[in-house]
Amino acid sequence: MTENNETQPTRLYFTGDCDGLVDLRESLTSHPDLEVVGWSDHVAQAAGVLAGGHLDCVLHGTRSETFPATEIAAIREQTRTPIIVVASATGGSLLDEALNADIADVLVLPQLVDNVVFAIRKAAHAKRQVTTVARHQQGRVITVFSPKGGTGKTAIASNLAAALAKQGRKTLLLDLDLQFGDAAIVMGVEPEKTIYDLVLAPGELDIEKLAGYTTKHQCGLDILPAPLRPEDAELVTESKITRLLEVARQCYDAIVVDTSPFFHGPMLATLDRTDELLVLCGLDVPTLKNVRLALQTLELLSFPSRRIRYVLNRANSKVGLNSREVEAALKVTVHSTIPSDRIVPISVNRGTPAVLSEPGSEFAKALNELAKAVMTPAEKQGKPRKRLSLARS
Ligand SMILES: Nc1ncnc2c1ncn2[C@@H]1O[C@H](COP(=O)(O)OP(=O)(O)O)[C@@H](O)[C@H]1O
Ligand SMILES: [Mg+2]
Repeated sequence: MTENNETQPTRLYFTGDCDGLVDLRESLTSHPDLEVVGWSDHVAQAAGVLAGGHLDCVLHGTRSETFPATEIAAIREQTRTPIIVVASATGGSLLDEALNADIADVLVLPQLVDNVVFAIRKAAHAKRQVTTVARHQQGRVITVFSPKGGTGKTAIASNLAAALAKQGRKTLLLDLDLQFGDAAIVMGVEPEKTIYDLVLAPGELDIEKLAGYTTKHQCGLDILPAPLRPEDAELVTESKITRLLEVARQCYDAIVVDTSPFFHGPMLATLDRTDELLVLCGLDVPTLKNVRLALQTLELLSFPSRRIRYVLNRANSKVGLNSREVEAALKVTVHSTIPSDRIVPISVNRGTPAVLSEPGSEFAKALNELAKAVMTPAEKQGKPRKRLSLARS
């Protein structure tokens, strides 16, 4: 069966340089089946396009007779797209090393343009087939966010993840409150490894490697905790998070992400991959003020409003504000409400999520409902989610 996107031009990017590369680029630019998105001699300068350019193939030119391992690794930091190495000369160890590396092809110039086009299309075709298979087994990324500390992100993320695991979903709880994450403590596990060890480990991340860094909870849930020390957070970069989420999606049904109250780089990378963003609100004016500002930021980031689910935590507290007033203040619909319950802090102190220790409680019932809802894409839920319309006063 022919894929729809087979008819779209193959998007190419050039990095590096070698004899004949400029001529080749010019010939390929005018080819009807190809689209030359751009080029840069230095991989570092191309990071943005490599990561976000939706490329089908990267052609990397090298004058070296040995394999340009550093440059290829730098490209791989940004993208999983196929790479073809274009060289001025062979000899040395280039071909041998390329065989062992993740390279689609090696072409020594000069070449007939048709040969190069064939190699590019073959590489891009293989990528599309892999992507099609992966698409069928993609887990959902559920990000729990609130622009204020103490609103219940960790309590809800950990209980939601445990509820999903209990419902038979293969689930990962990922703690991206990178400086002060406490998801592991709340779950009562003492991890040997954290996300910090994972990002420091050499080599490309894959499913097997990820499995070596997660800690299993007795309810079946896997946990990837935050770094143990706040200063280690900065090594967990955007590109590492992007790759981590890509791999996690291939082997989990659900990835529940606990966050900090900030829009930092790793959070933006997470938003990019988020299927369901739970925005936690509380019944207090400072939280509402911050949620409102956060919604403006999400709108500026073009985050799709249909992926946002508004969750009101401690919804039954008698504090002079109610759910209706929250909806009116934010101009949104609250989709889920979670009651305040003293079993939540008690279970946190015991290190057992309330959905497991007190399954009959109103809190556990609300979390079980939420777990079912987040696994259903918005378009299948009948009721369309209200569009963001932000009043700026
Ligand atoms: N629905 C709730 N009922 C009772 N206590 C709650 C509820 N949600 C959160 N808490 C408590 O509030 C405190 C802050 O919650 P936490 O999840 O750590 O917030 P955040 O991660 O947003 O900073 C914790 O002690 C937690 O047990
Ligand atoms: Mg927290």
